[in-house]
Amino acid sequence: MSSETTEIRLAGITTVRTVHALRTQLRRWRQDGDMLALVPTMGALHAGHLALVRHARGLAERVCVSLFVNPTQFGPNEDFAVYPRDEEGDAEKLRELGADLLFAPAVEEMYPPDALTRVTVPSLGDMLEGEHRPGFFTGVATVVGKLLLQALPDIAVFGEKDYQQLLVVRRLCADLWIPTRIEGAPTVREPDGLALSSRNAYLTADERQIAPALHRTLREVAEGVLVEGADPIERAAWGEAELLRAGFDAVDYVEVRDAETLVPWPGPSRPGRVLAAARLGRTRLIDNVPIA
Ligand code: PAF
Repeated sequence: MSSETTEIRLAGITTVRTVHALRTQLRRWRQDGDMLALVPTMGALHAGHLALVRHARGLAERVCVSLFVNPTQFGPNEDFAVYPRDEEGDAEKLRELGADLLFAPAVEEMYPPDALTRVTVPSLGDMLEGEHRPGFFTGVATVVGKLLLQALPDIAVFGEKDYQQLLVVRRLCADLWIPTRIEGAPTVREPDGLALSSRNAYLTADERQIAPALHRTLREVAEGVLVEGADPIERAAWGEAELLRAGFDAVDYVEVRDAETLVPWPGPSRPGRVLAAARLGRTRLIDNVPIA
């Protein structure tokens, strides 16, 4: 943990690398009465992230974007080492969008060698993604908890693309009395429906052709249970088979769940969400749609 207060300019945007420098800058804005929105990211910014930043700009006078590839949310066989990184390019995009501050800490700043604490959100964080990526939500909750307590923003913006993550972060804030309003922003999609994701860069040309079947199938599952009154479990099983037919190599899950608690969807009296994760070659894609 460093007490360095220096700000630097990275591609023209004010950038801080320590919590001390972050808080020094945020204190000035707070003294001016400005509201602060934080957009946590792992960088490799695409149009989906930029939409989060725009969303944040509409909600607060000042927008801080954090850029940190969080090692604790990657499993031992996942892509931490090769996760796309382009700090200069990201800073350039953020400057163009008019973000006010970039917080880009080193791993030792976020996880000093003597740090022990981890944050776990049981139940909500154990199912779906949590079941297929053990430890993932503990990594997410730990780093998001740190970021929120470091910056204490009025608002933090997360994409609905990572729907379970959004719910886990909301639960975390409610349970720990973190006074930040958590805003969900709609998923940004390619014209063919594929949700934007940094991991889309791993898809081969052939896989890219198959990938939109994920969104299409989720919509068909949602329509099946809502409009046709299909049984949610049977319809989800149909969705899994449909993804394999479309060319996906494996399906981790297709599930029809309550949109707030993620328990199995009890029916139209409750808001619902269809969520899925499926693999195309070495790429794992996730997506979700509302039942509406
Ligand atoms: O969604 C992401 O990019 C990450 O999980 C987050 C929220 C920035 C935490 O590392």
